[in-house]
Formats: sequence, structure tokens, C-alpha cells
Amino acid sequence: MKQILVTGGAGYIGSHTAVELINAGYEVVIVDNLSNSGIESLDGIEKITGIRPAFEQFDLVEKDKLEDFFTRYKNIVAIIHFAASKAVGESVEIPLVYYRNNLVSLINLLECQLKFGISNIVFSSSCTVYGQPDQLPVTENTPRKDAESPYGNTKRVNEDILKDTIAANPAIKGIALRYFNPVGAHPSALIGELPLGVPANLVPFITQTAAGLRSELKVFGNDYDTVDGSAVRDYINVVDLAKAHVVAVERLLDNKNKSGYEIFNLGTGNGVSVLEAVQAFEKASGVKLNYKIVGRRAGDIEKIWADTTFANEELGWKAKTGLEETMLSAWLWEKRVRGME
Ligand code: UD1
Repeated sequence: MKQILVTGGAGYIGSHTAVELINAGYEVVIVDNLSNSGIESLDGIEKITGIRPAFEQFDLVEKDKLEDFFTRYKNIVAIIHFAASKAVGESVEIPLVYYRNNLVSLINLLECQLKFGISNIVFSSSCTVYGQPDQLPVTENTPRKDAESPYGNTKRVNEDILKDTIAANPAIKGIALRYFNPVGAHPSALIGELPLGVPANLVPFITQTAAGLRSELKVFGNDYDTVDGSAVRDYINVVDLAKAHVVAVERLLDNKNKSGYEIFNLGTGNGVSVLEAVQAFEKASGVKLNYKIVGRRAGDIEKIWADTTFANEELGWKAKTGLEETMLSAWLWEKRVRGME
């Protein structure tokens, strides 16, 4: 069976992707340092699929461990690289930690790909590379902007590291997937997003507020040039997003990629305001959310959503799940985690 290395596979998007890969018949091997995830997500993957993926706990920055790993796992045909530090605010406080973790991990993986003859890599990028775009929706050709945070810069620089490495080494092929805002959980509620401490992202904050862990949601800003003044994003269901990774891997394995390095936007194509997201949650869950409008959050952009034409046509992939269904999945997950069923 073809082995796929999923780095960060115990984490939020990684665990959902591991499920979809197993469902598609691949053997998944997870490497994760568990810095922002728990081993319980492997239990969830096993309960959903009936298969427990192989798991190795180490940090990709430790190259000797990574090399040792590849000498032991000889059937890996592709890597999906999720493992990264991802808190925007924290990255401003400790930029060197972010640059070391996120850049060195990818460099080590690419060097191992060359050394061990592994051709294919899918990289988790982000719509953060577009900054506040001049035109909406954004296509893959929309110019990138200077990053607003060290985190965002690691995504931008890693895209360049990948592109330049592939240009110099045709043996390697890669796809960068630019995620818009991944939200929701597996419909089984057995895996989902579990932020440490106070959530920085909107949907975990909404579900924790509804569950009574937080007293109120602060809606950051109502004076943006948007439908209702609150900021607009493209919220994509995490299972839909996970499925795109399976398609991307298969594109590489089947040599269907048109060039060595390709980029795809992964979003729904719909812009949704914060207040619309709150309404969708309330409708889906039947819970009235306590929220208050406060000032803008530093570093936030006003609005962004994806043009998904390229992913739809070239990958044959489309986000299918509606926002209410996604919000319900996030709520069912939160309730299960808090023992509220
Ligand atoms: C940010 C990053 C993105 C990263 C993602 C996950 C940028 C520009 N974007 O997305 O690259 O992948 O985090 O870590 O750096 N909001 C509230 N109240 C809250 C929380 C959020 O009103 O308590 C609002 C925000 O102001 C924003 C929207 O909800 O308008 C979404 O915020 P969030 O979930 O944090 O994601 P982004 O900032 O879009």
C-alpha cells in the first residue's frame, strides 16, 4: 500500500486529512511533536476509519531524527506537510521560534526528499499571503503582499523555498494549497479543532462562548466597508478541505500536474461577515450567542474570499458543505469535548 507521510497529522487539518487518505485507501504515517495537539486525535481517526495510523513523535527541526525516520519508512510516496506554528499574535512576540520551526522543518523535509528519492510534497499555505488584496475574489495569480506577521511571512517564504527547490530539482514536484479560513469538525464529532488556552480564531471562540467557557464573543469591528460592517472571510469546511489534499496527492502521483510547482486556492468562493457567521451558528445550533461589538483587531484585513475556479476545474474539487452544517459540526464537536451531549 502507498504510504503518505502526514506531518502535523495529529493536529486539526492534519487529522481530518488522515481520515480522508485512509478512506481513499492510503496508508498514513503521522509525524507530530504534539506541541499543539494531542494523541487523542489518533483515537478519533481510528474510531472513524477502523485503522490507527503509524505515529512517530518528534520535531521536524531535528534532522537526524527525520533522516532516521526515512531509513525506517521506505514506502513513502508523498508528503503532506501541515506541521507548523500557526498563531499569528504569538509569531509577533517570538518571531525566531516561528522562523526556525516553520522554515527549518520544510528545508529538512526537502533535503530528505532529495536524499531518499521522495518526489511529491503538498504544502499547507494560507490566504494570508495575499494580505488585503486590491481586487476580489483572489485568484492564484493575485499578487502576494508583504506579510503582516512573522507567521504569514513563513508561509510566503516557504512557498518560495518550495518553488525554488523544485525549479532546481525536477525530481521533486509540489503543490501549495492556500487555505482560506478552515472551520468545523468531522461530522462524527470524534475529531475537531482544540485550541490551547483562549482561542484566537472566530469559530472556536463562538463554540466556547456557546458552551459557557467564555462570557461573550467580541466582534472585532463594525465599521468595515462590508455588507454589515464586520470583516468578511471565506470559511471552508475542514472535511471539504481535507478531501482536496487527497486529490492533490493523487494529481502528483498520477503526474497530472502541469508544472513541477502548482498553487491552488482552497475556499468556498463566498465571503461571509463575522455577524453572518454568528447568525449561521445560532441557526444551526439553536443557541443564542452573547456577543458584543468592539474595536477592530490590529492586523486584521477587511475582506477576502477566494476565486476557486482553478481548483474546481483543474483538481475537480469543490467545497460542498454549507456554513450552517459546518457550524453545527463545530458545535457538536465542542459539546462532545465538554461532555455536554
Ligand atoms: C488568521 C490568519 C490566517 C491563519 C488563521 C488561523 C491573517 C490575515 N490570517 O485568519 O492566515 O491561517 O488566522 O490561525 O493573518 N474575530 C472576531 N472575534 C474573535 C475572533 C475573530 O470578531 O474573537 C473575527 C476577526 O476579526 C476576523 C474573523 O473573525 O474578521 C476571522 O478571524 P480568525 O478566525 O482569527 O481568522 P483570520 O484572522 O481571518
